[in-house]
Amino acid sequence: MAHKSSSPPAVGKKALRETNAGVLRQALLRRLPQRLRGSGEFSIPPAAGLLDHYTQLFIGVFAAIGRVFTAAEVEEFRLGLKQNLEQAWAISPYSKVVVSYQTNTPPQTGLLWRINVLRSTVEDEYDHWLKTRTPPLFGKHPDAKIFELARGLGAPAEVPILDLGAGTGRNALALARAGFPTDAVEMVPSLAAVLREEAEQADLPVRVFEGDMFDAGLGLPVGHYRILLLAEVVASHFRSEAELRALFALASQLLPVGGLLVFSAFLTSDGYKPDDAAREMSQVQWCNLFTRRQVQDAIGAHAFERLSDESVQAYEKAHLAAEDWPPTGWFEAWTGGQDLFDLPAGRPPMELRWLVYRKAGA
Ligand SMILES: C[S@@+](CC[C@H](N)C(=O)[O-])C[C@H]1O[C@@H](n2cnc3c(N)ncnc32)[C@H](O)[C@@H]1O
Repeated sequence: MAHKSSSPPAVGKKALRETNAGVLRQALLRRLPQRLRGSGEFSIPPAAGLLDHYTQLFIGVFAAIGRVFTAAEVEEFRLGLKQNLEQAWAISPYSKVVVSYQTNTPPQTGLLWRINVLRSTVEDEYDHWLKTRTPPLFGKHPDAKIFELARGLGAPAEVPILDLGAGTGRNALALARAGFPTDAVEMVPSLAAVLREEAEQADLPVRVFEGDMFDAGLGLPVGHYRILLLAEVVASHFRSEAELRALFALASQLLPVGGLLVFSAFLTSDGYKPDDAAREMSQVQWCNLFTRRQVQDAIGAHAFERLSDESVQAYEKAHLAAEDWPPTGWFEAWTGGQDLFDLPAGRPPMELRWLVYRKAGA
């Protein structure tokens, strides 16, 4: 026979307790951060145009381990990130911002985070290349374009050339070997040392000016060179329109009337306007973007006429022996803009171009 208890019904008591498995799982997980430890470190390129993206990324990582930031905490983190991105950027695009984090000791559920700048200059990067990469650093072959232009000006002995940002002498040594009186400017001491050494070993009379091409103290001869060459220099290292303007001013000073300024640069396609993030990441990826308008404006009051604007990849491919193509493992993706945009070949709105300008009469 059933026994009736005088105590409150068991059903009523159970109703006060949560038994829903889904609700309980969530409740259990809310306690997990009290027992969970975590730490980590991220290194990011110093592109302030990605500040909001980065902030979301880190706030998401922290939330994933149960450290959910308040609006004020998000703002404090964002501000710290912004300041460090700007500091790193001012050193060079190769510097990094390092975000490290560590949970507080359980059962505390807070998070300690730190943001630092990891400094790296152009010199540091190339020193590292020299230690870790197999030479020659910039490829075995000189550029076909410079030889076509130089030969078009007459007998080699009559065509002095200045290779600005010569690196380890990929073009300068080949030009000197072909009989063109060639000087070189290189600002990274370790690269200038390799260039000098190779010139000496090959008994080539290449004069190496070590320093920044815009330093008037270098003492570059005025009106002497028929060609100024910058191969992969504007493309990899020019960071502002001010440097483009300084280049045309330098060329105007160094070249005689009729002299050529030849450089390769990444130009955007018509109709594409790079935003801050794209410009910054282009420098991080060594394919610094400029628009045709920026190059044109940089000429300013100097008298230059543009002789050509053509694809470096198409030109060099057409002039290099088939078995030597591509000249380096990275050349095609880099010149085609795929280092910046993960798009199929031919689709990024940018490309490395050979630009040739002639100094006109006053
Ligand atoms: C990508 S490397 C190309 C080297 C060489 N022109 C070649 O094509 O093989 C760019 C070079 O330009 C040099 N450079 C960049 N800015 C410079 C400046 N303002 N003055 C002198 N050299 C510079 C760098 O140090 C580096 O060696």
